[in-house]
Amino acid sequence: MADSGILACASAPAKTILFGEHAVVYGHPGIAIPLPSLRLDVTITFSARSRIVSRQVGLNAEIDSIPESDPVGKLTRLLAERFGMPPVPIAIRINSKLPVAAGLGSGAALSIAIIRAYAQMMRIAITDSEVSEIAFEIEKIYHGDPSGIDNSVIAHEKPIYYIKNKTIEPIETPVELPILVVDSGLKSATIDVVADVRRRFPGNRPILEAIGKLTSEAVQALKAGDLPALGTFMNENQRLLHNLTVSCGEIDRIARLALDSGALGAKLTGAGRGGNMVILAADHAQKKRLEQILAKSGVTVRS
Ligand code: MEV
Repeated sequence: MADSGILACASAPAKTILFGEHAVVYGHPGIAIPLPSLRLDVTITFSARSRIVSRQVGLNAEIDSIPESDPVGKLTRLLAERFGMPPVPIAIRINSKLPVAAGLGSGAALSIAIIRAYAQMMRIAITDSEVSEIAFEIEKIYHGDPSGIDNSVIAHEKPIYYIKNKTIEPIETPVELPILVVDSGLKSATIDVVADVRRRFPGNRPILEAIGKLTSEAVQALKAGDLPALGTFMNENQRLLHNLTVSCGEIDRIARLALDSGALGAKLTGAGRGGNMVILAADHAQKKRLEQILAKSGVTVRS
């Protein structure tokens, strides 16, 4: 039988980490911003049979058949426990522009859009902090040892300065940042990269500390809208991430091309070893030119 009647709908943005990935897992600060134009939408409808559907990833399954070891399986059980069972059989439909395993927070965005839609269906008011807290439980399956920065920035949908279990401070930026988010084209599983950085701990502690120190300085440049200083911090952050062994040849190549073409800064974003990069242009006109240069060399521009 065809689905009929929308019960609820919600959406969540992608995110990009400007500074501090990996170090943020160890209690150092991180800075992340939402990408409002890159979104994942969830619609809940009445359905003859309870199911979850995503055309992008070829998913069409009975909700109850998804095991609890799967993030979506765990989330649907958690929501039923917390907010009650759906009053009727439902279909959860996911429509996403976010690439998966690419450093843009697709896992957190999926959890957050489902949480918001589910609460709406049950007519339960829920705060951004509660949304973030539930999504954090699911991040443990995606990341193993998450800092919580992804669920926090996506749930609050504001630029944030973040310290694990301590600080979520919204950041006001005086200028709209001329940043590009581009895809290296290589997939990378956050859980594996985070685990590998953990295996190398405490040998890599000085690099993580240097990233933390740099992030606490970069936030001042961000608040002041000082783009040249921000670019310098981004390049230094990328150098440290390279030393942490989480960059890769393709990311290094794209960073070189962007900087040689006049970008102020270029770095990987998220776990690294593939995924996306964030590039800072001097202004919006240069951003357009960089977009064309990168697209010509085969790089996918995401935002
Ligand atoms: C992933 O987007 C960012 C990492 O720092 C992991 C985390 O903070 O949970 C690599």
